[in-house]
Amino acid sequence: MRKIPFYKPPITIHDYLEVFRTIASGWLTTGKRNFEFSRKLAEYLGIEEKSVVLVSSCTAGLHLLFDAFDLKGKEIIIPAITFISPVEMALLVGAKPIIVDVDYDCITISPEEVEKKMNNKVGAVIPTYYGGNSYDRKVLEIASSKGIVIIEDAAHAFGTKVNGVKVGNVEKLGVDATVFSFYATKTLHTGEGGAIITNNERVLDKIKKTRLHGMDHNAWSRYQNNLVGYDITEVGFKYNFPDILASVGIAQLRVFEKMQRERKRVWDLYFRYLSDLDTIRLPKIRENTETSYHLFTIRLNTEMWSIDKLTFIKLLNDRGIGTSVHFTPVYRFTKYREVLKPDLSEFKNSEKIFSEIVSLPIYPSLSNREVEYICGVIRDLSKKYKK
Ligand SMILES: Cc1ncc(COP(=O)(O)O)c(C=O)c1O
Repeated sequence: MRKIPFYKPPITIHDYLEVFRTIASGWLTTGKRNFEFSRKLAEYLGIEEKSVVLVSSCTAGLHLLFDAFDLKGKEIIIPAITFISPVEMALLVGAKPIIVDVDYDCITISPEEVEKKMNNKVGAVIPTYYGGNSYDRKVLEIASSKGIVIIEDAAHAFGTKVNGVKVGNVEKLGVDATVFSFYATKTLHTGEGGAIITNNERVLDKIKKTRLHGMDHNAWSRYQNNLVGYDITEVGFKYNFPDILASVGIAQLRVFEKMQRERKRVWDLYFRYLSDLDTIRLPKIRENTETSYHLFTIRLNTEMWSIDKLTFIKLLNDRGIGTSVHFTPVYRFTKYREVLKPDLSEFKNSEKIFSEIVSLPIYPSLSNREVEYICGVIRDLSKKYKK
């Protein structure tokens, strides 16, 4: 039987060579390859290098920003369908996560729900680029009219453009900060890692220190400049990014555009083979957005099926097709049911979406035949289990 994993990272000869070079240099932690990767990211995004701060994960980036934007004691508005990171980081800095419903079509934070939650305790809104799609930009108008900080969770959006502007260009897109994830399954990966982009000088100054214990000089700058000691000027974290991983990022960035063309090929094939099925819906991308093609999440028209989503997933898995679900609404997890005490009537869209969503494999090495096979299985199931 075929075995098609949900994800396979695109590894090329460049990854081996760049990692080899770093290891051979003898400097494994944060050092000059961090500078090189930051510079290349800035070039790709069309922004200044000083606005890029590499960190150990997107989660770490959110933590550093919540701390640096002084959100302790404030409310932070977060969409119900996202990864758990912004919720847990809000709690860890002593802020209150306020979870709001998402819009039904694009699964992104609903501006109407954000508006309803506005009050003078709100400190920040954290819109997620779901699967690479943009969120409704009305959220920006609502937040900026009230002076509320916008931190974009762009874990899925390296490669996304909004109105022709790359996500990460915080100035042109009118946001306070953007955080990328370079986790193993993301469009640009380093295995683990992330980057904060902001132009806020005070915040930049702080997070460049707090990502490494609040030190004024890290080991690389001490080594470079023959400095004997360091001072600690902030209470910090240990969220710096090692050079071994930066070298993977440098290698991946070199082939990024090519990989994106391959993701688009897979995306277009799914559309070609599945568009005519009335039992499912395919991802809907906002008109102003060019997606990063991070997720291909289909939706079951559940009223037309005699099986539920979990059975559908199991039947795909039985035929060797890996799937995933993005995401379980954050308030459904045991711990967060306890902490957030959700009123389910406020989450009608999220609940319905959760009963419908299945993410299919999408990655550069997924062949045309494999996509055909996946689509064939979905068509079979649709025929067999249509009410
Ligand atoms: C939407 C979203 N935000 C944040 C994260 C956290 O990223 P990281 O693993 O780099 O901390 C993820 C990871 O899957 C994610 O999907």
